[in-house]
Amino acid sequence: MASYNPGWLVLVGILVTLSLPYSHAFWGNENKIHTAVFLSPKFVLGPGSVENRFYFNVDFPKGHIALKSFDAEVIDETGNPVPLHETYLHHWVVVRYYVRKGVEISKLDDLKKVNRSDYISGGNSGICQNGILSQFFGLGSETRKTSTHIPDPYGIEVGNPAEVPSGFEEQWMLNVHAIDTRGAEDKLGCTECRCDLYNVTDDEYGRPLRPYYKGGLLCCYDRTQCKVKHGFEAVRRTLYLRYTVKWIDMDRFVLPVKIYIFDITDSWKRTPSSTEINAEHKCKIEYDIESCDATGLGNDGCIDTKRISLDVPFGGYLIYGVAHQHSGGTGSALYRECLFDFGDFEDGQLMCSSLPTYGKGEEPGNEAGYIVGMTTCYPKPGTVEISEGETLILEFNYSRIRHHTGVMGLFYILVADDLPKPMHTLRTVVQTQDSIMVVTVLWAAVALIGVVAVIALAVHYQFKREGEDGYEAIGM
Ligand SMILES: *[C@@H]1O[C@H](CO)[C@@H](O)[C@H](O)[C@H]1NC(C)=O
Ligand SMILES: *[C@@H]1O[C@H](CO)[C@@H](O)[C@H](O)[C@H]1NC(C)=O
Ligand SMILES: *[C@@H]1O[C@H](CO)[C@@H](O)[C@H](O)[C@H]1NC(C)=O
Repeated sequence: MASYNPGWLVLVGILVTLSLPYSHAFWGNENKIHTAVFLSPKFVLGPGSVENRFYFNVDFPKGHIALKSFDAEVIDETGNPVPLHETYLHHWVVVRYYVRKGVEISKLDDLKKVNRSDYISGGNSGICQNGILSQFFGLGSETRKTSTHIPDPYGIEVGNPAEVPSGFEEQWMLNVHAIDTRGAEDKLGCTECRCDLYNVTDDEYGRPLRPYYKGGLLCCYDRTQCKVKHGFEAVRRTLYLRYTVKWIDMDRFVLPVKIYIFDITDSWKRTPSSTEINAEHKCKIEYDIESCDATGLGNDGCIDTKRISLDVPFGGYLIYGVAHQHSGGTGSALYRECLFDFGDFEDGQLMCSSLPTYGKGEEPGNEAGYIVGMTTCYPKPGTVEISEGETLILEFNYSRIRHHTGVMGLFYILVADDLPKPMHTLRTVVQTQDSIMVVTVLWAAVALIGVVAVIALAVHYQFKREGEDGYEAIGM
């Protein structure tokens, strides 16, 4: 009788319970981060040439997983990073799709031939329409110094067998748009796809461009050629996009995030009758910046500020945000419209901002004149909540010191439906991996309190049992 103490059973139970979320989320034994490094198919560029390729069924981690980061850079055949002033990386994007098993798509031409019923797009959650900006990940020149890490316990869930249509397979398309500017007469002009430098008057499909279209994606399509200095020669070289994917296996502790991309050129307008919020999003992707020479130095300090407001068709907690800008960009932000301001954007409440970092030297990752990184925002989970239907304001700034064609203003955000359970109380502490020690100490404290409580409980029962003839106190 004396040796039997149910209190210890309770204690073990509590410790086991405590150790579950603890070891899972922070010890990482059960769910460690996997890393894989892949190469895109090779592409070959000579001075002034452009490759805008769509590679289907590229290497990608398999299984039901949660993506934690996706980083990329252009390398040469020997594996050395190539600087932007030689090969300008206009963009790379990664898009998911589903294809009927047995049907093979390896290039864009295959996709055009494939039976519509054999292909299903598997893009992100919005908000542009018609498959525009439907990527899971995508960056440009800023790729080397932009964080894509998704903080614990969040991840982008992919490969969920329950979501793959039956008879289909989940695959990934990688689009790489690179411009070789070695020897270019006007490097910036080539990277901004100025039509005159490419001697392009028709688009890729032979349709004449509108006379006011001076530059942008329609003038630097695959296999176009930008103007090179007379007599300049250099070897064509073989390049790859090297991409590094990190992920963890999906389980019930991982909270999925949804991907949304806002575009500053979205012409969405609130209409009195618009009940379907997702209705008229027209994303044009690119726009031009007039130089202040042309318009005179106004009171805008020679900065072009573009703002739009959007009623968001989703809600949730903001987990991560990053913008994409081209050279000349000076910053971007997402604000929430304040209830008491009537259209006065200046007083919107800042939710997330993303600012460009320019390089200062020559070496890859630090090329002068290029945006080599964008700052990101990681609000503490739970601190920035978006309500469905609320009005957000998107803002993009560009310098007007010179004219720019084909610039972009994209804002990529990750949004979660849920907050992690332990974070409801430890929200401010459990933020990054750096906080592991704090969390460890906290859990140790909690465990200790538990031990003390259980011992107290056990002692209490012991007394109680003795007081009640050692019977039925526990009620087991
Ligand atoms: C496409 O697939 C559907 C369903 O399998 C079939 O009925 C149709 O004939 C196919 N179309 C072509 C052009 O092959
Ligand atoms: C530009 O294009 C036109 C028409 O396609 C062609 O006649 C002309 O030779 C081209 N100029 C250069 C410099 O390539
Ligand atoms: C954009 O420019 C405007 C006007 O100069 C300024 O008030 C605003 O703070 C800038 N926003 C960002 C995100 O840089």
